[in-house]
Amino acid sequence: MNADKPIIILGIESSCDETSAAVIKDCKVLANLVANQKIHELYGGVVPELASRAHQKNIVPVVAQALKNAGIKKEELSAIAFTRGPGLIGSLLVGASFAKAMSLALNIPLIEVNHMQAHVLAHYSLPPAPSFRGGEKPTLFQADPILYKLLREFAETHRKIPTEAEDILWTQLRTKQLGYKFRRQHIIGTYIADFICHNPPLVIEIDGLIHQMPDVKENDEIRTKWLNEHGFDVIRFSNNEVIGDIDGTLEKIKSKLENLRAQVSPEGGDLEGATPSFPFLCLTVSGGHTQIVLTKDHLDMTVIGETIDDAAGEAFDKAAKIIGLPYPGGPLIDKYAREGNPNAFKFAEPNIPELNFSFSGLKTSILYFVRDKVKEDKDFITKNLNDLCASIQYTIVKILIDKLMTASKQTGITEIAIAGGVSANSGLRKEIINTGKKMGWNTYIPPFEYCTDNAAMIAIAGHYKYLKGEFVGQNVGASARYEI
Ligand code: KG4
Ligand code: ZN
Repeated sequence: MNADKPIIILGIESSCDETSAAVIKDCKVLANLVANQKIHELYGGVVPELASRAHQKNIVPVVAQALKNAGIKKEELSAIAFTRGPGLIGSLLVGASFAKAMSLALNIPLIEVNHMQAHVLAHYSLPPAPSFRGGEKPTLFQADPILYKLLREFAETHRKIPTEAEDILWTQLRTKQLGYKFRRQHIIGTYIADFICHNPPLVIEIDGLIHQMPDVKENDEIRTKWLNEHGFDVIRFSNNEVIGDIDGTLEKIKSKLENLRAQVSPEGGDLEGATPSFPFLCLTVSGGHTQIVLTKDHLDMTVIGETIDDAAGEAFDKAAKIIGLPYPGGPLIDKYAREGNPNAFKFAEPNIPELNFSFSGLKTSILYFVRDKVKEDKDFITKNLNDLCASIQYTIVKILIDKLMTASKQTGITEIAIAGGVSANSGLRKEIINTGKKMGWNTYIPPFEYCTDNAAMIAIAGHYKYLKGEFVGQNVGASARYEI
């Protein structure tokens, strides 16, 4: 290995319903593309057959686009890292086969990665993982590359010829006078946001008269719902409002941003720009796993507690299903919970020994409670949606934090991180910081794009394995079950 040469890793993730490819250079994320599979929403959960078929369709364009966005030629790659497991076998096989073929063709090392270990290592991506740094956010796209190209052309044209209102607002936002960094005509999913702030996540839309037409209104609602599900709040202004009262518009934007920041990052909480030092405890909470991981080094991890039944993400998704929310329900519970009372309803909390978790009793408790209430009043859920979501979220977060406190006391470790899809939950993010303050912990929270499944974390794990020369041959397989 040439010490001066940068290490450039292509990461490939395909363990569930996201096809993702990332390119990192000495742990700096150059590109991290995630193609979601919307098809599963129709079925209320991930359908394995459909997932592997979608991976097959996505993998070539997603990898090509990641390399392009990173400005890296495939010949420059040092190695290819892929998720070996755990996950859906049909999905894993697509990523594994692709990675094997590409490493063979390029004659570069192949690295297998444990998905759960990668969630923890997301904290070592550069810029450093802890959120609220206001830095660059890797592109998240849901479109196929052709649509993405069209969107980009559209965005570029729009940037050159802004409307009067857009021009007035951009003059104010671009100078960072509000203290927040904005981009304009920014592609997110299959949409183009007029203005976007990534930290805290907010989209600003400026609407002309056309937005009062029923079809356009409906479209706006779908778009807002999608953005909300992906963690962004949306604030809208009419052209006239911006042109006629720019000071009032800016005041509203500022107050929205400050509210959001208070929700996700209570003052003075996390260590900005820092990464956890060893040993640390990582609560890894996703759709398939709930673990407390004692991390002694990048590749030296031990699971000291885990769920004996459902995972935390599953608990969110199943509870959401009970109250009629679509899959995946976690982000929606999070959204409605913001407006609700966390103490409105009480649900059963498990009594499980040691550092293990259980969520199936909670699910049953929610099911029976809701069933009984709906018998009394068929509109119970609609009338109490926010309070239900806030109470469900409060209970799940409490179960997680209580065990984490026990783990910290038992091990004496006060370096505490969270990772995995559920670490995007605003209630958990807020509570981990509050608890950290009380307990004297240093807390570490990944930026949103590194919480849910992504290939940047796979590439980071690949980087550390590359340093140790941990390569695999062409005989490596995919492993649906794969312990840390
Ligand atoms: O890590 P991940 O993307 O995939 C797995 O490896 O499973 O986690 C997905 C899980 C889903 O259960 C989803 O509902 C949950 O993470 N999730 C959330 C939030 N965002 C994603 N749960 C609660 N609040 C959120 N904001
Ligand atoms: Zn995951």
